[in-house]
Amino acid sequence: MYCTDIMVEEHENILRFLTAVRSMCCKVLDGSELVTEDFCKIIDFARNYSDHHHHGKEEKFLFNEMESRMGAIGQNLIRHGMLVEHELCRAHILDLENALSLWEKEKKTIYKLDILEAAMGYATLLTRHIKKENAVVYPFAEKQLDKAVLDSVNEKVAAFEAETEKQGIQKKYLDMIDYMIKTYGSVEDQHDLIV
Ligand SMILES: [Fe+2]
Ligand SMILES: [Fe+2]
Repeated sequence: MYCTDIMVEEHENILRFLTAVRSMCCKVLDGSELVTEDFCKIIDFARNYSDHHHHGKEEKFLFNEMESRMGAIGQNLIRHGMLVEHELCRAHILDLENALSLWEKEKKTIYKLDILEAAMGYATLLTRHIKKENAVVYPFAEKQLDKAVLDSVNEKVAAFEAETEKQGIQKKYLDMIDYMIKTYGSVEDQHDLIV
C-alpha cells in the first residue's frame, strides 16, 4: 500500500539518523568536542523532517481517519498513544534547544549533560515509537480501513510528496542523514537495545 510504504521508508531514514545521534552522544561522553552546530541539526531534522514531513502525514492523513473510524480502539491507539508520543518527542526537542542555548552562553557540565539527555531521550523514544508503528499501527490501519479511505489517504500523501519534492525537502534531509552517518558513524545493532 502506497502511503504506509512511504512512511515505513521514512522510518528507516529516521532510524539511520537516530543511530548517528546516539553515536554522536557517545563520542561527546568519551571526550570529543560537543559541536553545537551538529546538535542543532537534530532540532532541524526533528522539527522539519520527522515532525512536519513525517508525523504531519500521519496526523493529517492516516491517523485522523483511524481515530474517527475505529471507535475506542482508534482513540486509544492514536489519540492516547501515538499522538502523545509525538508530543513527547517535541518536548525532548524543546529541552535540547534550551540546553544548547544555555551551553552557548556558558560551558557548564550540567548543560552538556542536559544536551545529551535530551538528544538520547529523543532518539530512544522515537526509535521505540517507530517500532510500534511498523509492527502494530500501520498493519492495523491496512487491515481495518476501507479501501476507499485508504485510496483517499494515498492520494493526499502523493500530493504532499510531490509538493515537498519540489521544495527539496526530501533531498535536504537525506543529505543531512548522510552527513551525520559519515561524521559520527552508526551502530546498526543498537536498535536491539530499545524494545
Ligand atoms: Fe508517529
Ligand atoms: Fe511514524
